[in-house]
Formats: sequence, C-alpha cells, structure tokens
Amino acid sequence: MPLDNPPVLLTTRRLNLAVLPPDAAARVLAYHEANREHLGPVSPARPDNFFTHTWWRSRLAQDAEDWRRGLALRLFILSREAPLTAAPVLGSVSLTDIRRGPLQSCEMGFGLDHAHQGQGLMTEAVRAVCDYAFGPMGLHRIQANHLPENHRSAAVLHRLGFTVEGLARELVLIQDRWRDHVLTALLAPRTPAG
Ligand SMILES: CC(C)(COP(=O)(O)OP(=O)(O)OC[C@H]1O[C@@H](n2cnc3c(N)ncnc32)[C@H](O)[C@@H]1OP(=O)(O)O)[C@@H](O)C(=O)NCCC(=O)NCCS
Repeated sequence: MPLDNPPVLLTTRRLNLAVLPPDAAARVLAYHEANREHLGPVSPARPDNFFTHTWWRSRLAQDAEDWRRGLALRLFILSREAPLTAAPVLGSVSLTDIRRGPLQSCEMGFGLDHAHQGQGLMTEAVRAVCDYAFGPMGLHRIQANHLPENHRSAAVLHRLGFTVEGLARELVLIQDRWRDHVLTALLAPRTPAG
C-alpha cells in the first residue's frame, strides 16, 4: 500500500465510517464516556488519561498518521442522518497490526454505542470495512478475537462468515485479568485466478 493513503469515508445504507480528525475529540470522548460500563469489560487495558480530551486529540492525530503509513485504519461510525462534522459517534471499527508481504492480514476490533445495539448497525459497518479491506486495501485475511462469553460479538462475526480457528489462552489483559479469547478469521473471497 502506498504512503499518503487518502482519507477514508465508507458509506452504507444508514452509516458513514470515517477516520476522524483531532477536532472531533469531544465527540469521540462523549461516546466513550457514555459507554464506559459497556465497553470496559471487553476492552484491553486503557491508559490513565483515556477519558480526557487531550488524549483523544493526540490519539486521533496518531490515527491519521498510522493510516497515512499503512499501519492501521481506525474508523468511527456516524449516522448518515447528520452532517459528518456534527454527527455523534455511534461506534468504531478498527483494522490494526496490518501486515504486508506474505501475510496481507490485520486484526479487527469493534464496538457500538449500547443504545444502538440490536438494529444490525455493526453488521452493516463491519461488512463495509471487510469489503474495503479485501478490495482497495488488498488484504487477504482479517482476524478478530472475542471473549468466549461475548455472544453478541460472536454473532456479528458469524453472520459475516468469520470462522472460529481456536482459543488463545490468556491473550489480552482486561481489567487486570489475562483473558482467553476465541480466534476467528475471514479470508478474502477467491478470485477466478486465486
Ligand atoms: C458486539 C456488538 C458490536 C454487537 O452489537 P449488536 O447490536 O448485537 O450487532 P448488530 O448491530 O450487528 O445488530 C445485530 C442485532 O440486530 C438485529 N438486526 C436488526 N436488523 C438487522 C439487520 N438489518 N442486519 C443484521 N441484524 C439485524 C439482529 O437480529 C441482532 O439482534 P439480536 O441481538 O436480537 O440477535 C455490541 O454488543 C458491542 O459493542 N459490544 C461491546 C463491544 C464488543 O464486544 N466488541 C467486540 C469485542 S471483540
């Protein structure tokens, strides 16, 4: 993938997915504050200043830089009903640890505002991100891990064709405990030549 990737904006029936600039820090922080209880128990350990405007400003600047360098793509989910510059953040889908060469793979993570669950929004968003990963980004494999008891996450992945490949013991430190994770992956659709 070339350096200086263009800004990403994916559009689905109900959603926009965008790499947000640092001046959107207040909107991202509001999303995380409203979902502290919802996302905390499934999220990797967070830095002490995670719930601050300063942290999010610098994190969003880093996101843009990571995308420019082809290292990670962190997209925020916004409703199409509001303008991009004002729409509240409804969730996120991230592709991190992008590996090129003979792997062409990445790790996917996602989260949705608790009050917006149950409408198929995450399935819609993840489908668009997978299409983008296998299309313009040219990746071959998307890996996604979840806690064994995270049935909602498992359902999203299953709906989109991810296959369970195993169980990784004590994979992620979450709220001071090393937690096992179910490993799943989706492969790029086969082309006639592939
Ligand atoms: C995981 C998470 C994103 C799943 O959210 P979700 O709302 O269940 O997923 P979707 O937005 O795809 O919605 C699916 C639900 O909407 C329903 N639905 C309605 N319209 C739908 C449509 N057009 N397409 C698909 N599902 C639809 C489905 O039947 C399903 O309902 P159910 O929960 O009663 O079975 C959410 O629970 C979350 O943010 N959890 C915390 C963070 C997390 O666990 N992240 C993953 C870490 S690995």
